[in-house]
Amino acid sequence: MIEHWYSRFRNPTVDSAASEIADLEGATAGFMTSSGMGAIATTLLTLLRAGDRLVAARQVYGDTRDLLVRDLPAWGIDVRWVDAVDLDAWRREIDGGPTRVVYAETLSNPQLELTDLPALAELARGAGARLVIDNTFATPYVVQPLLLGADVVVHSATKFLNGHSDAVAGAVVADADLVTEVQRRVITLGTSLGPYEGYLVWRGLQTFEVRMARQTVTAHALATALDSRRDVTAVRHPSLPGYPGADVAARVMRPNCGGGCMVTITVAGGAERAHDVVRNLQIGCEATSLGGVETLVSTPFNSSHFSLSPEERRAARIDDGMIRISCGLEPAEALIADFARALDLTAGEQ
Ligand SMILES: Cc1ncc(COP(=O)(O)O)c(C=O)c1O
Repeated sequence: MIEHWYSRFRNPTVDSAASEIADLEGATAGFMTSSGMGAIATTLLTLLRAGDRLVAARQVYGDTRDLLVRDLPAWGIDVRWVDAVDLDAWRREIDGGPTRVVYAETLSNPQLELTDLPALAELARGAGARLVIDNTFATPYVVQPLLLGADVVVHSATKFLNGHSDAVAGAVVADADLVTEVQRRVITLGTSLGPYEGYLVWRGLQTFEVRMARQTVTAHALATALDSRRDVTAVRHPSLPGYPGADVAARVMRPNCGGGCMVTITVAGGAERAHDVVRNLQIGCEATSLGGVETLVSTPFNSSHFSLSPEERRAARIDDGMIRISCGLEPAEALIADFARALDLTAGEQ
């Protein structure tokens, strides 16, 4: 057990936030890091050695992808990629060599496709690998990966856990032994969280459940309203009747969780119209982040997935006209009216 000798090692304020996140995830232990990337990098650098094999979902967050594409191979890690929703591909790659770590996100960005966590956990366990899950998008309000067989959950606590877009932070939760093992690395890598950010996340966590409950209801209402429009060609939200991963959702999501606060739509008229719809919003605010009390909106083609070629975006099922929406605490009717107005103003661009 690491003691409270010095704040880079451990800090009591930061610990208060970490233990609340561990409780939310149904974990026995957790600690916080300087950012979500700090949580991911520290975890992977602890679990992997040169010569190990890591099998990862192709749909991971852009900077995670960069870590796996540029940094880990340079340190001798053999990184293999699979489509997150293709269980046969997971099986092939996990069983194709001695796999040490399997890495995926609960809910993909921006397609909002759910990873079949119980099935993936079984594959990882069968191969003697550790399953690491980034639960940032879904949050423990929607999915608790450790209860479905994951070994480690990592978070960008910058997002829904903090909820106020005013701190950058990360979290790692797992069983106590694994947490201690990873936390030791924080000391030498220096990826610890400062107490002020720890306090801000702790403060945000006090309203986590009420924010999530309200924002989820808004997300469902917005998704339903947009789904009825002819000029919105696709709406992705796990609560909608036509959600492609409905069978996985039934096994993976917590009962009555409502499907979470993220909605992704595709507008007729492609990238330019998507961009103009976003620029015409008066409540929704264009931003690269998500999970705040304000509705944050982005177009993947020029933000999170800018570095992918058009062919790579198509292969990842990212449409040009996609808009990713992180629903905030504004009244649902006002948000629905805001989108309707922006879509009407740009109707000529279809
Ligand atoms: C799914 C996901 N994981 C990790 C991160 C990295 O988090 P941070 O910006 O807190 O380092 C992000 C950031 O957007 C994210 O969306």
